[in-house]
Amino acid sequence: DSRSQEHRDPFELVADDLSLVADRLRSMVAAEVPKLASAAEYFFKVGAEGKKFRPTVLLLMASALKFPLSESRQGGVLSILADKLRTPHLNIAEITEMIHVASLLHDDVLDDADTRRGVSSLNLVMGNKLSVLAGDFLLSRACVALAALGNTEVVSLMATAVEHLVTGETMQISTSREQRRSSGMVFQNICSMDYYLQKTYYKTASLISNSCKAVAILAGHTAEVSMLALTNSGSMQGLAFQLIDDVLDFTGTSASLGKGSLSDIRHNRVEIIIVTLDKKDMGIITAPILYAMEEFPQLNEVVDQGFDNPANVELALDYLQKSRGIERTKELAQEHANRAIKAIEALPDSDDEDVLTSRRALIDITERVITRTK
Ligand code: FPP
Ligand code: MG
Ligand code: MG
Repeated sequence: DSRSQEHRDPFELVADDLSLVADRLRSMVAAEVPKLASAAEYFFKVGAEGKKFRPTVLLLMASALKFPLSESRQGGVLSILADKLRTPHLNIAEITEMIHVASLLHDDVLDDADTRRGVSSLNLVMGNKLSVLAGDFLLSRACVALAALGNTEVVSLMATAVEHLVTGETMQISTSREQRRSSGMVFQNICSMDYYLQKTYYKTASLISNSCKAVAILAGHTAEVSMLALTNSGSMQGLAFQLIDDVLDFTGTSASLGKGSLSDIRHNRVEIIIVTLDKKDMGIITAPILYAMEEFPQLNEVVDQGFDNPANVELALDYLQKSRGIERTKELAQEHANRAIKAIEALPDSDDEDVLTSRRALIDITERVITRTK
């Protein structure tokens, strides 16, 4: 079908719905007390809304799963049904965004961050206490919006996504050196690819994949189609995205992402320590190093000692460069991307132009996630 080949910018395709969601979010997060009101609306203001990756994927998924209605029936009972089905996916996009921003507000407190989305973080502007409360407030507004959808399965899915965010964050805290020492967890278990991928699924993939599943369920799709929306598309986009992030941490610098090779970066030690091995002040070990540790078991001891000593940074990077760590991480990201694309291709046949264009756009986004350089 030639129409399915139509290429359009994924974000542009859903631009109208995106701005509708943005407007509605601003009114949904209005609070009674002025201090809470300005804290809660902070990341929904124009200029602080972020890349809108999640709402874009959700709106495209909704359109990719749309049941086509024949022209002749327009105005009839089916179009009333279509109208009823039109808004739940907008609600899911809004709920997902509120949960996401709530997690960012809490995350910036945990990480003691000072910037977010190109502006000062809320904890920096209004303090930790108000940031935590604003996060709780957004979660409660998300709950109200969820209840209004009147679907208990969907409530349960979104609650699971919140649980996963908290679990993933806790798993990440547990990997820091001090925590490893005190938790009694075996180093080999915590510094394993399995642990890392599980943590990554919880932290970055679960929210988008469960909300994609919610969109499918609310549109009245079968369990099978809902699973395609969840496991494959959503979670793979989340996982592939994070794995490429990990690669970019090593192959790019904050000043010029993408063009530097590992050896280029080695000239700038400070950058290495801050951006990669000592990410978020926690010494978080990501996929490339974990693969290098599999190849060179000697690296385990270096990682276990931590990176306070610059010599250990140097050693770790030596092993990484000798290893296939970066290559294997890219390969794994590609595998997840392929699975995401296969899931879209496995959706029930359709000859609706909008449906096909949206499916094409979802594939486009997945390809962009893999080829991006920043
Ligand atoms: C960003 O990670 C953080 C997350 C994706 C999730 C954080 C989750 C919590 C704080 C649990 C609480 C959740 C809710 C819903 C209130 P990062 O710090 O690695 O990346 P970034 O700061 O650079 O974006
Ligand atoms: Mg953070
Ligand atoms: Mg964090």
